[in-house]
Amino acid sequence: MIRLYFVTNNKHKVAEAQKILSKYSVELEPIDIKKVELQSESLEDIARYAAIEAYKIIAKPVVVEDSGLFIDALNGFPGPYSSYVYKTLGLKRILKLLEGEENRRARFIAVVALALSCEDVYLFKGVVEGVIAHEIRGGKGFGFDPIFIPIEGDGRTFAEMNSEEKNIISHRGRAFEALGRWISANRDKLIYIL
Ligand code: IMP
Repeated sequence: MIRLYFVTNNKHKVAEAQKILSKYSVELEPIDIKKVELQSESLEDIARYAAIEAYKIIAKPVVVEDSGLFIDALNGFPGPYSSYVYKTLGLKRILKLLEGEENRRARFIAVVALALSCEDVYLFKGVVEGVIAHEIRGGKGFGFDPIFIPIEGDGRTFAEMNSEEKNIISHRGRAFEALGRWISANRDKLIYIL
């Protein structure tokens, strides 16, 4: 079993990520240190920076994830600011911004950064395409799940799916699958470091 620190205070993220990584014999150890957020439009830059800053504190292999919802009709808003916008505007105001808008296209993107040292950082990206619903639907999941309908699904929002169903197609599921595959291929390297 490989154990990696995961910097987050979001228990939904931990549960979703752990479900994927268990298949690869990886255990995540959530650590609630402050995730240092770079002001940037790039999830890659934000995740990489946060992973390096976390490594400087704990000096052990560490995983950070940065994700966001990108709405086409709003030119990619809220994107990297999703967490803040969710807290300040909330779902209803986002739906209001899209009132009368025919283009409902959006995508969730997640970037996972694994820092093995301050120089050795690997990035894994996952994307899920979808549309923004016309109303809030479902009680599962978190954040923007009740207004996001994945294209690959059956018309339900993420909040109407259980976590297994969401994980198969979600941005986070895909990014952590990519991390899991990388770990499988690089086990020797990791075991040497851990
Ligand atoms: P951060 O990665 O901690 O900066 O937060 C990303 C924000 O994007 C979350 O707080 C949510 O508002 C939103 N988000 C990211 N992934 C998901 C998801 O899987 N479901 C719903 N909202 C998400």
